[in-house]
Amino acid sequence: MSIHFNEQKKIFKLDSKGVSYVFKIYQEGFLAHLYFGAYIPDDNLPDFERRPVYASFSPQPASVEPYTFSPDTCPMEIGCNGGADLRIASIQIRNADGNAVTDMRYVSHKICSGKPALPGLPALYANTPDECETLEITMRDQVTGAECVLLYTVFERHPAITRSVIIRNASNKPMLIERAMSFCMDTNGCDYELISLYGRHMQERDFERRPLAHGTQGIGSRRGSSGHAQNPFIALISKGGNEDSGEAYGFNLVYSCNFKAEIEVDYNNTARVIMGINYDDFGWNLAPGEEFYTPEAVLVYSAEGLGGMSRAFHRLYNENLVRGEWKHKKRPLLVNNWEGTGMEFDDDKLYAIAAWAKETGIEMFVMDDGWFGRRDDDTSSLGDWKVNERKLKGGVGALVKRVKALGLKFGIWYEPEMISPDSDLYRAHPDWAIHVPNRECSVGRQQLVIDMTRKDVRDYLFDIMSEVLANNDIDYLKWDFNRNISEAGSALLPAERQKEFYHRYILGTYELMDRITKAYPHLLVEGCSGGGGRFDPGILYFSPQIWCSDNTDALSRVDIQFGTSLCYPASAQGAHVSASPRASYETKRNVALWGSFGYELDPAKISEEARNEIKAQIADYHKYYDLIHYGDLYRIICPWDDPYNCAWMFVDEDKTQALAIYLIKFKKERRGLFLRLKGLDPAKYYRWEETGEVFSGALLMNAGISLFRMPNEDGYSKTFFFTMV
Ligand code: GLA
Repeated sequence: MSIHFNEQKKIFKLDSKGVSYVFKIYQEGFLAHLYFGAYIPDDNLPDFERRPVYASFSPQPASVEPYTFSPDTCPMEIGCNGGADLRIASIQIRNADGNAVTDMRYVSHKICSGKPALPGLPALYANTPDECETLEITMRDQVTGAECVLLYTVFERHPAITRSVIIRNASNKPMLIERAMSFCMDTNGCDYELISLYGRHMQERDFERRPLAHGTQGIGSRRGSSGHAQNPFIALISKGGNEDSGEAYGFNLVYSCNFKAEIEVDYNNTARVIMGINYDDFGWNLAPGEEFYTPEAVLVYSAEGLGGMSRAFHRLYNENLVRGEWKHKKRPLLVNNWEGTGMEFDDDKLYAIAAWAKETGIEMFVMDDGWFGRRDDDTSSLGDWKVNERKLKGGVGALVKRVKALGLKFGIWYEPEMISPDSDLYRAHPDWAIHVPNRECSVGRQQLVIDMTRKDVRDYLFDIMSEVLANNDIDYLKWDFNRNISEAGSALLPAERQKEFYHRYILGTYELMDRITKAYPHLLVEGCSGGGGRFDPGILYFSPQIWCSDNTDALSRVDIQFGTSLCYPASAQGAHVSASPRASYETKRNVALWGSFGYELDPAKISEEARNEIKAQIADYHKYYDLIHYGDLYRIICPWDDPYNCAWMFVDEDKTQALAIYLIKFKKERRGLFLRLKGLDPAKYYRWEETGEVFSGALLMNAGISLFRMPNEDGYSKTFFFTMV
């Protein structure tokens, strides 16, 4: 890992583990991109004479030698709006004269060890100052006095680079930021395919792949949330690349609100990638002396296809994103009552689930929605975070004590960012709901969103949540978010600041998450949004696991987990066995093991046989925990390649243990009779636990395990566990 500046050539060379990123200070202080890819030891890269330095109709600054250079044809580190670079811009600042021409040129730089925090924003962090190095480049628009500081961090142990931008008003006039993308990167060529994760409620993060085309393409969210529809993740893979081969570039935004990722392939066949806050309906007023921080983007490179890229993200997030006590502590095996009881429960019913859980070997009971206000269905009470004594006699405390007396941990559900029109809170403070003047508010799930831009709202939420959290021995909090935002506006923001609303909203949410997690550091927080509607690195920074989807049918959930795994580690995805009928308990377990495992049911509503089966599953959860949470994931047969079968496996860091899972979603004549494993040491030997047979790693990976005698049935699944001999 290093950041090196070649004074003579004016070249910056940034090296993370196995990766180099190179750019230079070019003519007139423009920052030109040279390379991002596998590690190269030297910076002697072909310069711009090998590139189209100029093209007809591409403007050039008057100061440069005619026909020698245009920012429009040069790969750039920042895309400035309105000047001679006519491709999609990454930065656009409207100045006091009313135009939005933005022209950033190099001024200075500094290199420091470690990684600075981004105020108010979640971001990756350095565990020790020597595992990261950061480059800060200051650029300035000489006409307006706007400045951009480009931040680049490299990592000792990961093939990743993080990027973000600080925009500063170093003038004496106000400015309006209209576009503040977290990075701009121009690839050398456009022979890539774009991968993104699309979806909806109950079907999050489906894999989609398309060739890059000339023009602009991309994904984004305008939902006030990262959302179910698109994840803030894209990858570019070289044409023909797959799980194991090809160059894969992954881009992930550490942000939980409106985002955009765009790629423009220009007439020089360069693909410009930009990603950041969605600039639709965004604006940020910057007074003289003020600064604005963009969210951070994570860039990962792998020469080993999508599999290599995913494993790099997983290790990086487990080590440098997830924080707090639960980062490495074993997460408790839980049962949640939601799918079992809905909101129809009382303390005795919940206690009965907890008692069964204890007897079964489960470690934590989680009480979901319906414990507060007058909440018997979704028509009321969000915001009234006071216990419903009719349901829980003696309050939350009495139930916590009973459950704790069993020797279980206790978890609770909140949806802090919401307010029901039918709530005491709304009747007292109608202004606290997000709204715009003279317009009806659209409802979603019969609820409104509370205005998290307001400090009084956040203080109320902190205090009322603390009444429960501070006075009871609570171990876990599920933080839900069950609708998207419409009619976005805040009663407290002046008209010219309403465009700041969405970003202020998420900053407010992050602030409350920060306060809660700091005040109650023992809490394990699980993020949630109607399942996985806010499954992003921003939330992961505050909650080490996120409920992956409300879809707990193992045969479709497995697709969601495959998609999620493109970028997020197994430890991040909450995955539960429910009573959903389509698959056996064995298959449900095999799918849910790929995550932060738990159960989601009412034992009184399932058969005795099922209860016995669950009891027998618990030992395996413990046995495979470390391997799954911290091992390397290899996708063997992916749902996007084969709609009928899928297979995946985990290998520990030393390659001494491996667990493979094969699942038949829908029966069809088998196309292959062997499951070829991945990630083992070819020169070592492994014992198959089931039969005691010993095979070389080379055999298991090249010839594979025979599937010949396995049943070919819908929903059949099987695990294969190997240990090195
Ligand atoms: C969301 C969550 C569920 C459950 C319900 C409660 O849909 O994803 O797990 O908590 O809310 O209303």
